[in-house]
Amino acid sequence: MQQIDQRLSQAFPPNSQKNTRYIAQIHSVLENVKIDDIGFKDIKFRKAQTKRDIEQLKLLQQEWFPIIYAEQFYTSVLNGHVSSLIAEIEIKYPTGRKEKYIIGAMVYQQRQCKFKYQQNLTWKQWFCSFFQTQNALYIMTIGVINEFRGRGIAEYMVEQLKKIVVQSNKTLAYIYLDVVAYNEIASRFYQKHGFNRMRIKKNHYQLENQSFDGHVYVWQPN
Ligand SMILES: CC(C)(COP(=O)(O)OP(=O)(O)OC[C@H]1O[C@@H](n2cnc3c(N)ncnc32)[C@H](O)[C@@H]1OP(=O)(O)O)[C@@H](O)C(=O)NCCC(=O)NCCS
Repeated sequence: MQQIDQRLSQAFPPNSQKNTRYIAQIHSVLENVKIDDIGFKDIKFRKAQTKRDIEQLKLLQQEWFPIIYAEQFYTSVLNGHVSSLIAEIEIKYPTGRKEKYIIGAMVYQQRQCKFKYQQNLTWKQWFCSFFQTQNALYIMTIGVINEFRGRGIAEYMVEQLKKIVVQSNKTLAYIYLDVVAYNEIASRFYQKHGFNRMRIKKNHYQLENQSFDGHVYVWQPN
């Protein structure tokens, strides 16, 4: 008998039973809200900067990813050692109280990398690449809550990174990230936004007692 896909996030292994329930508060809050009334202009983008942001991010990332991120990861987000961009909405309760909730988040980092992911290298550049390093932006995590997927939130966040790379005057060579091979929605998303699959990392992920390949996607400015 065919098993029903119960995953809330396609980042979890296809047969996972560990991703069937929401844990972040925003989902119960949204049960009493007309989601269609919330437009893109109502979504604010900013970096994560408070302990409350981090508390929300922790729960959302548990829903989005099968990997548990260590406390150090969240400390680095809070103190800005790694960069973040969160998408947030404000909910107005009948009592007049207002509360802000995260609905999407991207965590990224500037890293020193080998030149080798650059495309269209001449032989000379290719040879030199073995001795040079370049700075690039690495997307560590990106996710959007189910209720707001398909509305261009991740696209907006990725476009902000592209702008940073373009405005860096070639100091930043490209954007790259790892995605688990079975995550077709994410792969399609990156391909649609000009990322190319540059490398396959065999058995890169060990998730729920299974091994899965990783794909490295790269975007570089023209
Ligand atoms: C991948 C992800 C971040 C995309 O976020 P998003 O805000 O829905 O993306 P956008 O709206 O900018 O782009 C939508 C595209 O994503 C796809 N998509 C993903 N989930 C979707 C959904 N529930 N409804 C509609 N489209 C969806 C579609 O292919 C769509 O392409 P289209 O514009 O041609 O219709 C989101 O699906 C997610 O959080 N997934 C779980 C976590 C994850 O896998 N992260 C990536 C790890 S590398």
